[in-house]
Amino acid sequence: MTTANLPQSTAAFSLDQDAREALFTAARSAIAFDGREVDADMVTRAWDLAKFGPTSNNTQPLRLVVARSEAARAAVIEAAMPLNRPKLEQAPLLLVAAHDDRFHDHHETWAPGMPAVFDRFESNPEMRASLAHSGAMLQLGYLIVALRAEGLALRPYGGFDKAALDASLMPEGWGSEVILGVGWPASGDDRSGERRGRIPAGLGIREL
Ligand SMILES: Cc1cc2nc3c(=O)[nH]c(=O)nc-3n(C[C@H](O)[C@H](O)[C@H](O)COP(=O)(O)O)c2cc1C
Repeated sequence: MTTANLPQSTAAFSLDQDAREALFTAARSAIAFDGREVDADMVTRAWDLAKFGPTSNNTQPLRLVVARSEAARAAVIEAAMPLNRPKLEQAPLLLVAAHDDRFHDHHETWAPGMPAVFDRFESNPEMRASLAHSGAMLQLGYLIVALRAEGLALRPYGGFDKAALDASLMPEGWGSEVILGVGWPASGDDRSGERRGRIPAGLGIREL
């Protein structure tokens, strides 16, 4: 992976080039891993970083199922689209990122002393569902970067039957969003293939 022509920040507090590569420019959506198991405390550490990313009103609707047991792992793989199954089987650890339909039950944590927020979300299930989904996806982005910051590699998977996985594995009130196949980076080819193009700043940013 070439890093030539990447912008170099001059800010004293910015992450150095190695960190930028580990989090973004050299990190791939990996299929192959080195086979070592991923300890539970690695996932907890990544969670404890990702939880600080901003969310709407600090609502934090992301939840995570760690499919550690054989039965839980099998349920995740069974819900996946057939093309994704052999890829998921190669990941030492499967996580399911989900949203909590009742994230407002925890308002004393995320908005202490503001009981009115509970009523606002309780009385508007449509708005709540929309925020649960968008907030969980936003936090998933933080989690992906946090897992990489812990030295792990991963591939996200949206190709699976959400209703089936919700029925077979999800705790009450949690709705599955994205599966993550997680492991330690492979020493050689991570089987993610040639990296596909990225939208350049000239196309993606408009300064008005
Ligand atoms: C929300 C989401 C859903 C995805 N779904 C799938 C999937 O079902 N199967 C798959 O093989 N890859 C899936 N991917 C992986 C993307 O194809 C991959 O991240 C993208 O091509 C960039 O690859 P790179 O990180 O190696 O550059 C998904 C990624 C995201 C973020």
